[in-house]
Amino acid sequence: MYRRTPGLFEGRPSRFARWSRPRIRKAGPGARVLELGCGPGRDARYLADAGFRVHAVDHAAPAIARARALAPRPPNLTFELAEARAALERQGSGTFDAVYAHALYMMLPDRELARLLGEVHRVLRPGGLHLFAVRASTDPRTRAGREVASGVWRGGPHRTPFRYFRARALDTLTRAGFVRVARRYERDARLWFVCDRRP
Ligand SMILES: C[S@@+](CC[C@H](N)C(=O)[O-])C[C@H]1O[C@@H](n2cnc3c(N)ncnc32)[C@H](O)[C@@H]1O
Repeated sequence: MYRRTPGLFEGRPSRFARWSRPRIRKAGPGARVLELGCGPGRDARYLADAGFRVHAVDHAAPAIARARALAPRPPNLTFELAEARAALERQGSGTFDAVYAHALYMMLPDRELARLLGEVHRVLRPGGLHLFAVRASTDPRTRAGREVASGVWRGGPHRTPFRYFRARALDTLTRAGFVRVARRYERDARLWFVCDRRP
């Protein structure tokens, strides 16, 4: 993906990062944030600019290489080339004030997502936030494909099965040990923004 499209996910921080930053700020100026699927790091840099201590992870080597090249190496921002769940498993329990994932969970199969959520829950401190943005099932790209399992589409623009979330599927993610703090539907982008909390 990154080799085919130079400059992908570079530039301005996502709208979701702007929605999330004031929520994370409530945890304090030095909040510890783990970003999963960070790409070339636009959101990680934006969150680190707020003074948070950000550790950002992606499994794509070109993305992490760009992230490292683009960041001016502030001491409060680190990048790791790793698969998301493997990276989570290396972290201690209760280590983070927030786990943040923009446009990652759509790519994960059911079982993998469930296991990943268990790890997210473990690495968050009680009261810590789980912030994630995912594509909604209203996305017109679903029409070009075929729903092969509940919420999972294949074909059209998707080479691999891809998930589009209905509102009740978001509730399933929250039921993995979290409570819902906020949810927003971004109509023009066809994205869900979710902020959950570990009780
Ligand atoms: C749609 S991109 C979004 C990138 C970034 N969050 C942004 O908005 O700029 C999804 C990212 O997740 C990464 N990714 C997908 N599956 C992953 C996994 N299992 N572990 C780590 N990263 C993953 C991809 O390499 C890609 O960089």
